[in-house]
Amino acid sequence: MEVKVFKDYAELSKFAANRVLELIQAEPAGVYGLATGSTPLGLYAELIERKAELPDLSQIKTVNLDEYLGLELNHPQSYRYFMREKLFAGLGLKAEQSYFPRAEMKDPEEARAAAREYEAKLQELGQRTVQILGLGENGHIGFNEPDSVFTAPTHLVDLTENTIAANSRFFETEEEVPRQAITMGMAGIFDSKEILLLVSGEQKRAAVQQAVLGPVSPELPASILQLHPNVKLLLDEAAAGDLLTKLK
Ligand code: GLP
Repeated sequence: MEVKVFKDYAELSKFAANRVLELIQAEPAGVYGLATGSTPLGLYAELIERKAELPDLSQIKTVNLDEYLGLELNHPQSYRYFMREKLFAGLGLKAEQSYFPRAEMKDPEEARAAAREYEAKLQELGQRTVQILGLGENGHIGFNEPDSVFTAPTHLVDLTENTIAANSRFFETEEEVPRQAITMGMAGIFDSKEILLLVSGEQKRAAVQQAVLGPVSPELPASILQLHPNVKLLLDEAAAGDLLTKLK
């Protein structure tokens, strides 16, 4: 894992945007793995601002990591809506260039079928040029919560209390936060030539240290990234703490 520490979130976002721009210039017809949450927002804003530097995007495809279960398609908290608002509209991407797990149903059996469908789509699209990741306070990536099975394909998950509480800031009340989601599995996340893991803020420091220094264990899902050959971990100083000293 290549660890890079930036003075602040703005610097981290700029670096990430430079890297993604470079990749899109080299592979304008690649598949790009995207993430939601607040952390990639700086990267997405920067890409929109620097749109003039991007090549023609008509051949690009994007895949997202996850989607809440049971939110209607245009729900403002659905990840599909989030991506349209925060990135796709600004870049002028068409709806058919972007893929999400279908998750608007409430029935778990239907959801499992939708998860299988998304897994098949990921296989069909093939290896990604890059996968953007954020990190949950409990070390989750996508919605692979602690103790999930590393070999699982795209699957239905029960969100942990910690994740429900952390994500309730986007909803009016905690009760409105969906209790389940469909997420790409670890194998799917690994199917990318490069992974950019973006982490900002002191509240993520403990998870970062465990992910980098701790054993590879499903207790801290992001720790598995130690096994991927090309991960760049981009941290601001608040998230890094004394990590660089510990790595020496
Ligand atoms: C959600 C998403 C994750 C994201 C995490 C962190 O749970 N499913 O993909 O990494 O939130 O969000 P934030 O960046 O807002 O801290």
